[in-house]
Amino acid sequence: MEFKKRILCIGAGYVGGPTMAVIALKCPEYRIDVVDINQDRINAWNSDDLPIFEPGLFEIVKERRGKNLFFSTDTEENITKADIIFVSVNTPTKTFGEGAGMASDLQYWEATAHQIVKHAQSDKIIVEKSTLPVRTAEAMERILKMHSGNIKFEVVSNPEFLAEGTAISDLLEADRVLIGAHDTEEGNRASQEIADIYRHWLPEEKIITTNLWSSELSKLIANAFLAQRISSINSISALCEKTDADISEIAHAIGSDSRIGSKFLQTSVGFGGSCFKKDILNLVYISKSYGLYEVADYWESVVTMNEYQKSRFVRKIIKEMFNTVAGKKITLFGFAFKANTGDTRESPAIDITKSLLDENVRVTIHDPEAIENAKIDLKGIEKNITYETDPYRAAANSNAIIITTEWEQFKDLDYSKIYDSMEKPAFIFDGRNILDHRKLFSIGFNVYPIGKQQLTHFS
Ligand code: UDX
Ligand code: UDX
Repeated sequence: MEFKKRILCIGAGYVGGPTMAVIALKCPEYRIDVVDINQDRINAWNSDDLPIFEPGLFEIVKERRGKNLFFSTDTEENITKADIIFVSVNTPTKTFGEGAGMASDLQYWEATAHQIVKHAQSDKIIVEKSTLPVRTAEAMERILKMHSGNIKFEVVSNPEFLAEGTAISDLLEADRVLIGAHDTEEGNRASQEIADIYRHWLPEEKIITTNLWSSELSKLIANAFLAQRISSINSISALCEKTDADISEIAHAIGSDSRIGSKFLQTSVGFGGSCFKKDILNLVYISKSYGLYEVADYWESVVTMNEYQKSRFVRKIIKEMFNTVAGKKITLFGFAFKANTGDTRESPAIDITKSLLDENVRVTIHDPEAIENAKIDLKGIEKNITYETDPYRAAANSNAIIITTEWEQFKDLDYSKIYDSMEKPAFIFDGRNILDHRKLFSIGFNVYPIGKQQLTHFS
């Protein structure tokens, strides 16, 4: 079949994979190639066992794979043939040199730009899909223009706003699509060409076009605002625990004000994921680099509050278990950074596990999807860790259960059966406030939610 257009995506990760699968589904007249340097990842994309767990993804991949959706490691040939290249390689926090621990590490990005220039033989639109520091397109353009001869590259920013666990519905029913381009004839043409992709399934009013720098910066700011809401509610959870105010009641009361809104007010043991911390630290670094120290401090406090929430939670566990947790068995229900994903990047469960291991606790980890990733995260310190796929076996003989991820199935477990199998007194620390605390208390548990009254049988 002759395809109307060829789209290439470099980077077959959590962002590139689902996004391209949905574009392939909605644009059958386009050929979509997704490439990655990681052969194992590509093999998995071509198998029945996809490299990422995302509800609804497998069905779409299965339907389009081999028709207009192709996964390979053949970057060079695909660069040559593509009209549009989405770049979706990772941009982790720098671990070395200037800006270590804060700035984005753009080495994969730069390498990709060089690769594109080397193999391109015709004009192309280059789309920034990865989250990037503001004004990255400038550097990208410099590299692309350096050796391009007669070939023209137009760089466009089209950040992705999908959240893991809901990636497919976020893509299909996106609140908005953002496209940033230069305000020139070529820039506008490229912007419209990218908009045409999304017009296949989204109405015109959902497509926002801006200048390049607003688009790049909007992605960082969207994540910073979302994370800020969580840190704000988490800061108040600490105050609730001192005052007998209830954080769920407060979230409902303030969220009913349409100016505030009800989403992202769920208190937790802290936010995780590959984006929030990385993007805020990047924002902090950028602000500092422009001498905007007050702006930097303001946003850095969102991350500080998140660290506080995690360490506060662990301190509470230790204190409430009579300050003697050494040798005790504590079971984590959940290791993923949120429900409906196997992803554990920056998961609060990692820090909690490490802190418990420092106290010589025997830790058991149960998660429906994330055990393999947990093993990778905890490699080298696994001496006192047990992994368990069955929640009842995981809980048996434990002194305490900690809810670290809000998996729906944790709500429906038989907690009487679990209680009977545990050491007494039995503790539950609900780091996500998802369980029926009164019911657990009546079964016999000592229950410690976040930002709510604790229910204990101690006088
Ligand atoms: C990543 C970034 O973390 C995020 O900031 C950005 O918005 C999009 O890209 P994600 O898709 O979750 O998000 O990352 P990851 O799952 O690590 O996928 C990146 C992929 O790029 C990996 O599979 C990696 O092998 C691949 N890659 C990396 C290349 O193909 N070429 C490279 O040079 C570098
Ligand atoms: C986030 C953004 O939502 C998405 O738009 C962007 O493209 C990537 O970063 P993601 O990290 O996949 O997506 O998940 P998200 O649902 O935002 O959750 C992030 C973390 O915040 C999770 O650990 C989650 O459990 C936590 N969270 C979320 C809360 O603690 N409380 C809330 O009310 C919402």
